[in-house]
Amino acid sequence: MSRLQGKVVLVTGAARGQGRAHAVAFAREGADVVAVDIDSDTGGIGSVPYPTARAADLAETAAQVEALDRRIVARTADVRDGAALEAAVAEGLETFGRLDALVANAGVFSQAPFWEMGEQQFRDVLEVNLLGVWRSMKAVAPHMIEQRRGSMVLISSVNGVRGNAGAAHYAASKHGVLGLMRSAALELGPHGVRVNAICPGLVDTPMTNWPGVYDQMAGRPGGTRADFESSALHYGVLGGQGALAPEAVADAAVWLAADGASGVTGQAIPVDAGHLALPGYNPAPVQPAADRP
Ligand SMILES: NC(=O)c1ccc[n+]([C@@H]2O[C@H](COP(=O)([O-])OP(=O)(O)OC[C@H]3O[C@@H](n4cnc5c(N)ncnc54)[C@H](O)[C@@H]3O)[C@@H](O)[C@H]2O)c1
Repeated sequence: MSRLQGKVVLVTGAARGQGRAHAVAFAREGADVVAVDIDSDTGGIGSVPYPTARAADLAETAAQVEALDRRIVARTADVRDGAALEAAVAEGLETFGRLDALVANAGVFSQAPFWEMGEQQFRDVLEVNLLGVWRSMKAVAPHMIEQRRGSMVLISSVNGVRGNAGAAHYAASKHGVLGLMRSAALELGPHGVRVNAICPGLVDTPMTNWPGVYDQMAGRPGGTRADFESSALHYGVLGGQGALAPEAVADAAVWLAADGASGVTGQAIPVDAGHLALPGYNPAPVQPAADRP
């Protein structure tokens, strides 16, 4: 049985990676989709060291949703631009007549020790990962309050619970998402709107497939995809399971949006192959003094 038949979801950062998986998973369960993302050919983010999505990626998401016989409104919109988000929501409401769920998924990552990070690099991550989530919630909240029903799923991270050495701004943004989620759940609960977050562990997407992440996972410069794959086995506890597929996170988002989770609000749900259950793992320990060159 389709769990989201006749419902409509807004997915931010929907062009690829987890965002595409959310759009497709919701469509498979019967939902129509409003999908937004940036086009890095016309509006990239300077301090992000890997390529963000292009218009062709969003078109591919649209094609995959339509192949499931669901409808999609796919628009270039930046979560740093509240008016652009509101325009996409208005178009979605005009097209579909309703909006039942939000997956606030758009996010960026970069690396530097916090004391070497420039203002712009820090602000770029906060602007997208935290303020962008708030703007997305703000764009859909009035409608959900009016219809006295809705489910918001915010994508945080295990870095919303633990630190990230080399990405303090990212961890701060993802901790912030959980504070936003818990507060919004209190504010929207009386209106019948649920708000939850997912804390993914390591997920195999373009955000994690570039040399900086390979180095971080390897614990040394010159890391490779092979290092990423072998280190990923240390990241969780499920045997033989390395980086998660984006679909594993989308499955949780579908559950949170559907009526099966009608009693769940204000929760941060890890989808991390057990990462947060681990007692701890240092990927790059400093050698004892005697071994240092
Ligand atoms: N990959 C991981 O290991 C991992 C782990 C935990 C949490 N996350 C979070 O999951 C979410 C999805 O990331 P992903 O892994 O699919 O990476 P990704 O880079 O493939 O996807 C992120 C999407 O967000 C879009 N985006 C970036 N800035 C935007 C903006 N200003 N406006 C609109 N769209 C924008 C990108 O173009 C891209 O399509 C992010 O919030 C990320 O922080 C990722």
